[in-house]
Amino acid sequence: HYLPQFVAEHDFVGGTVVVIDLLRASTTICHALAAGAREVTPFVEVDDLRRAAEGQDRCGLLLGGERGGERIDGFDLGNSPRDYTAEVVFDKRILFTTSNGTRALHHARLAAKVVVGCLANLSALVESLSHDVDLHLLCAGTNGHVSREDILAAGAIAYEVTNNDRPARRLNDAAESARGEWQELLNTARSAGRNADEQLAVDLRDTPHGKTLVNLGFESDLALCATRDSAAVVPSYDARSGKVRAV
Ligand code: MLT
Repeated sequence: HYLPQFVAEHDFVGGTVVVIDLLRASTTICHALAAGAREVTPFVEVDDLRRAAEGQDRCGLLLGGERGGERIDGFDLGNSPRDYTAEVVFDKRILFTTSNGTRALHHARLAAKVVVGCLANLSALVESLSHDVDLHLLCAGTNGHVSREDILAAGAIAYEVTNNDRPARRLNDAAESARGEWQELLNTARSAGRNADEQLAVDLRDTPHGKTLVNLGFESDLALCATRDSAAVVPSYDARSGKVRAV
């Protein structure tokens, strides 16, 4: 699904949803959990997060996220995956809100299984999906607009889940088209003498949100978000507890 708005929440009931916000919420959640954060609790609204924080012991708790790509006033961390190092987040609980990524997670909450996907956890993610039949790839998009970076990440996932010896999956048109975009990126990489990570980093610089991040000084995030298997965890969202944990 190219945008949460394109699919009703009830369509996820009983299925598995991979929530994809390549730049940068999915990548940041993967890095936080790979660095040893105990859990990430996603919020749609900044005010709801602040209210939840008020009632909690601030020891061992970090507030993270962005609006307009930048750290929110009074928060400990922004939404750069680079900030979520073991020194900062190990054993910490993180309350987290981003403009689109945490909203997409919330949209998927009726599914039987909700996981976070991106390039950073591609191999581990694909492995964890091998028995999932009713599989949805949900792109977060950017402020209601389809975003190429999420389609490329969805394409990489579709490519990997269909490009091995598991029983063939049928892709819907959107997933097939995303897979085609990823295949095209691989072809471009080959003819330019780059690997897929390098080519993706180049392509991300041309996306509207990639350009915004470069302008905000987050250029190095693009290469990190393009790096396959840099945070080999599968973040799983338990809608009942409201928490995302590594499985
Ligand atoms: C989002 O959730 O909209 C993004 O992660 C924004 C960002 O890159 O900080």
